[in-house]
Amino acid sequence: MSSSFLSLSRRSCRHGVGMTMLNSDRCCYWNLKCPFALGSYRAAGSQAALQPRIVLGIETSCDDTGAAVMDEAGRILGESLHSQKEVHLKTGGIIPPVAQRLHKENIHRVIQEALDMSRISPSELSAIATTIKPGLALSLGVGLEYTLKLLKQYNKPFIPIHHMEAHALTVRMIHPVQFPFLVLLVSGGHCLIAVANGITDFLLLGQSLDEAPGDILDKVARRLTLIEHPECTTMSGGQAIEHLAKQGDRMKFNLKSPMGQHFDCNFSFAGLRNQVTQIITKKEKEDIEKGQILSCANDIAAAVQHTVASHIAKRTHRAILFCKMNGLLPQNNGALVVSGGVASNQYIRRTLQIVTDATGMALLCPPPKLCTDNGVMIAWNGIEKLREGIGILHNPEGICYEPKAAFGADISGKVKEAAIKLPHLKLKIRE
Ligand code: KG4
Ligand code: ZN
Repeated sequence: MSSSFLSLSRRSCRHGVGMTMLNSDRCCYWNLKCPFALGSYRAAGSQAALQPRIVLGIETSCDDTGAAVMDEAGRILGESLHSQKEVHLKTGGIIPPVAQRLHKENIHRVIQEALDMSRISPSELSAIATTIKPGLALSLGVGLEYTLKLLKQYNKPFIPIHHMEAHALTVRMIHPVQFPFLVLLVSGGHCLIAVANGITDFLLLGQSLDEAPGDILDKVARRLTLIEHPECTTMSGGQAIEHLAKQGDRMKFNLKSPMGQHFDCNFSFAGLRNQVTQIITKKEKEDIEKGQILSCANDIAAAVQHTVASHIAKRTHRAILFCKMNGLLPQNNGALVVSGGVASNQYIRRTLQIVTDATGMALLCPPPKLCTDNGVMIAWNGIEKLREGIGILHNPEGICYEPKAAFGADISGKVKEAAIKLPHLKLKIRE
């Protein structure tokens, strides 16, 4: 195995303070000996220089219009979020032109609300950070177009943001987690596991070969017409499945766990969705009057949730073992960070906790509000980049959004070659 991707970036703090650090930004955030540490201000000299730098973050990559104003210390000064969830629930999924129209209708108000709450005028901003990749082209376009207008009007630097990198690093707002750490991103559009070595430095260990877990939970919920269920009318598909699963018996249905013969860290959910669809079709023929929700919907929800959870947990277990074998994570006190909309699922978190307990890792999950799409995570990613002085454009001319974008350096082939067999681990959770 080549050693190039295995060597950790052991560099001194870029401000030259303190001893050699595991990662360049460690002291700048957490070592208060460094004048650039969290909460410190720009070098003194003038009154203006005592002001912390401030970033406006803008998110429109999918179906949430989000904005937040944050200072250099990571304090949220203002935020606003407009979710399109209800509209898309009614149409049974996101229709890109509808998402675009709703972003256009709301972006001005959302940004204005975040600025008003912060009492910061656009002219006082140090930079504007906006998601430019990956995501829905029509949605990304709205955020970028609005941003370019603001940048021109107020002559501000631009920090383009990778949506998945922002999800991966949101945890650092709350926990002083050091690089390198393992990060699992599970949402409606994405499913991947990676080592985070730095703010823009990731090693991709595996990703979904077809659908994302949130997507299949949404599809199963739709197939079960859970939107008509009196307890689930305002819930996303994933939330509805989690809610009903609490009242269900997962043992009533025997679902085959995906990719049992693939000893890598990739994921697959399409086969599971087909299995569940077949069960639902069969049950509908057997047991229902037209227009009613299946009496076994709770049991189906419990079975699908458990199978999704154990598939994710097994791939994560292998990723941890691979990282430990190859020195990609600290031998002690390693951390698994889980983020994305599906990470707010308590059953999935508890299943992952079994894996982290068995492997001596800490499990860190941002609070549910920060797991889903929002402007705060974009502003925070902007602040991290600003503090490090990376990815800041003073001339955004020619910048384009990118609906598809790679995430980190892909070493999933190495993981596959290693073909690690998992030791037995009981992934059973008692409700
Ligand atoms: O991160 P997110 O807000 O948007 C992107 O997909 O990028 O994630 C939304 C997804 C939806 O598929 C939703 O069903 C799922 O996260 N989700 C959940 C839960 N809450 C939201 N899935 C399982 N359990 C939940 N509690
Ligand atoms: Zn997201």
